[in-house]
Amino acid sequence: KAKFLISAPDIAHLNEHLPGDAGVEIAFAGRSNAGKSSALNLLTDQKSLARTSRTPGRTQLINIFELDEHRRLVDLPGYGFAQVPLALKKKWQESLGEYLQERQCLGGMVVLMDIRHPLKDLDMQMIAWAVESEIPVLALLTKADKLKQSERTKMVNEVRKHLGDFDARVKVEPFSSLKGIGKSKVLGILNEWCHP
Ligand code: GTP
Ligand code: MG
Repeated sequence: KAKFLISAPDIAHLNEHLPGDAGVEIAFAGRSNAGKSSALNLLTDQKSLARTSRTPGRTQLINIFELDEHRRLVDLPGYGFAQVPLALKKKWQESLGEYLQERQCLGGMVVLMDIRHPLKDLDMQMIAWAVESEIPVLALLTKADKLKQSERTKMVNEVRKHLGDFDARVKVEPFSSLKGIGKSKVLGILNEWCHP
């Protein structure tokens, strides 16, 4: 049963309040509105663990949820949202970058992309960064319920091909927080990452 642990504006705050940087953390990253918080809620079977919103830019802090003493899930602020004031945007992107660079216990990255608009520049940067850092990556194609089965399969295959060419270790799965598509598959992968 996941529990909210801490909200932190930056890594300094995080290190101060969550000492040790020990155990395993799995981070959920992606563009604003990609469905990160909704995915966390589905995967933890808690409707309102992470706050979701129709308005992009809802999650502005690093939110950490505890699974048990050694394992945590992390809801990161979304990237790529134009409407946010520049100063605020800079602050988030900085804390995101710091988190990714400095957090030793980062054991896996879930990169969420809307299945209708995957593989944007910032998504590729995020995936490339994780691959270079030898952090396992799961690319989730979210809102899969928005496409017909045939279109969904086509998109999943295209993204698998693209990311497979990039690095064979990157996994790609369709996902829907609304319909539960991909839930058991994703839980299986997260479980592997949590028990290395
Ligand atoms: P930020 O915190 O702003 O970065 O956004 P986020 O990535 O956490 O997105 P969030 O989970 O808040 O969802 C954004 C919007 O997409 C909400 O209106 C959700 O209801 C909707 N949404 C999320 N997942 C799905 C899904 O699987 N299917 C459909 N149809 N809508 C979804
Ligand atoms: Mg969010």
